[in-house]
Amino acid sequence: MDITKLWDGFHLTLPKRLGDAYRSVLDENGLLPEAIGPRPSPPPVGGLTQEQTDIHFAHAFDGSAARAELVLLNPNGETESAATVLRQFLSGGALCLVDVPCGAGAGSLALLSTIAELRKEQELPRQPLDVRLLWGEISAPALKYAIRLLAEIEGDLADQGITVVVETLPWDVLDEVSNVELVQKIAQTKTTHPQILLLVCNFSGFLERQGKWKAAAPGLKMLLQFCSGDMNAGVWLEPDQKAVSKGLFQKLGNLIGGLIAFANQVGKDDEGDAASAKFHCPIGTGKTYRVSVRTMPFELALKRSSK
Ligand SMILES: C[S@@+](CC[C@H](N)C(=O)[O-])C[C@H]1O[C@@H](n2cnc3c(N)ncnc32)[C@H](O)[C@@H]1O
Repeated sequence: MDITKLWDGFHLTLPKRLGDAYRSVLDENGLLPEAIGPRPSPPPVGGLTQEQTDIHFAHAFDGSAARAELVLLNPNGETESAATVLRQFLSGGALCLVDVPCGAGAGSLALLSTIAELRKEQELPRQPLDVRLLWGEISAPALKYAIRLLAEIEGDLADQGITVVVETLPWDVLDEVSNVELVQKIAQTKTTHPQILLLVCNFSGFLERQGKWKAAAPGLKMLLQFCSGDMNAGVWLEPDQKAVSKGLFQKLGNLIGGLIAFANQVGKDDEGDAASAKFHCPIGTGKTYRVSVRTMPFELALKRSSK
């Protein structure tokens, strides 16, 4: 596959429409100066407030999008299992894409716009892809940014045979009622879009750095159970850090291992697969940044025991 518009052998470029959309949403919210300025360390993880959301959107959206693009393009063959799952699910048909916590939608928007770009370049067939996008997120301002970005790119997606209908849900992984609302929404969507792809991107800051795994595990478990069905799947993406390879993904592997009737890890490596690359800043600063990714794909197939 020729992917030279998006990968020149050394650098990733975000799909142009998404990069332009990002720049214009930053601009209309007065965030361009913040985005052009130095990136905070440690990287922002987002949160409930407008300020937390703005800092995260201005400094992390492009990296999160590049991380998802890198896994899907898989230019050096390092994330083969996850890339195969993503390409399979995004190739056509009726798909329920559950992106939680979606933030400003970096993961799902990057995947959909990368597929659109590959279709435009005739690297992938333009089969109708009918996407019901479920976005769950605790930050209302982040959901607003996500909706604006989608509005900017949906025409281009439609030109490539990708139609997207989105539903947003205020979602708190630590709240039982909120988790039930999310899985009810998934169950409803399954009736028209039985093929589910669960996408979780960049949740390790909250789950590991802020120590919330234990409190979040029951909600995540229910999510995996409700997303499972005939040949459904999930892909979890994180920055490639020890806290992920030796921490979060070990715990996730154990959670999946305890759910054999619903889920199954793809690939034998408990640490997942890793890749890294530089990407061009999409807002025209001329800068490049390095992004790393560690990914764990899993099957979400319902297995009934035969008695
Ligand atoms: C690092 S961001 C990742 C967002 C998005 N997946 C991406 O890749 O850009 C982490 C997200 O978790 C959200 N979050 C924080 N606490 C949460 C909670 N209790 N339940 C659900 N989401 C939460 C934040 O608002 C933020 O958008």
